[in-house]
Amino acid sequence: MRTKIIAGNWKMNTSLADAHILATGVRDGVEHIERIETILCPPSIWLASVAHDIVQKGQYPHLHLGAQNMYYEDAGAFTGEISPVMVKEVAEYVILGHSERTHVFGESIELINNKVHASLAHGITPILCVGEDDQTETSKQIVLDTLRKLLDGVSEEDIKKVVVAYEPVWAIGTGKAATPEYAQEVIGYLREILSSDTRILYGGSANDENAKSYLSQPDIDGLLIGGASLKLKVFLTMCQIADDIGQDLGHQSLHS
Ligand code: PGA
Repeated sequence: MRTKIIAGNWKMNTSLADAHILATGVRDGVEHIERIETILCPPSIWLASVAHDIVQKGQYPHLHLGAQNMYYEDAGAFTGEISPVMVKEVAEYVILGHSERTHVFGESIELINNKVHASLAHGITPILCVGEDDQTETSKQIVLDTLRKLLDGVSEEDIKKVVVAYEPVWAIGTGKAATPEYAQEVIGYLREILSSDTRILYGGSANDENAKSYLSQPDIDGLLIGGASLKLKVFLTMCQIADDIGQDLGHQSLHS
């Protein structure tokens, strides 16, 4: 069974004090939420501090940290960037290819593909984002073709380790979330080129009211959450919903 993931992408938000309050609030709130993986992705400048807040002698094995981006080289003259070697010291995950990286910062598929290889080489799990700009009849095919290119050269064994986040660009930060049926349809299609072990998340205006409908879909293994991850109560509610669904699924498989 694929363990569900609830990941919070804080984007370029929070002061250091806010990051501390949010991280420790999540840490305490998920203490008994053990059937899912919770991942926090704060701004890179707060990563080490949040790591200190949440990683206390391995007390929270289900709570993880992710970077929001990184470059693919290990070190060198790359002003403003962080490297996989640095990320690895504080985080286990890295979000790669988020649509804000491609649309605002002009990242290319080749660049993101290099980053995917670098993250896997360093043992960091990529949360690889993919999604269409507009919802059309060819959306599914566009997303599948893009994902193929993003994963170019990645071995079948490594594809099992990648976490894919299907995020339709038209649904990100707009309040116009994809319907759970549509998200399931696209994600089911993507699974055709992925392993049945690969976890695939949905992202785009997910919140505490719609979380259950996504997490109940057979191929949706979790959520990548932007805006709603900044609200402690809302985020914890979403973690609880995922955990409850995990319990139901575990119960079903025991009896099937
Ligand atoms: P949103 O962002 O939940 O605010 O739509 C999702 C994301 O960008 O990962």
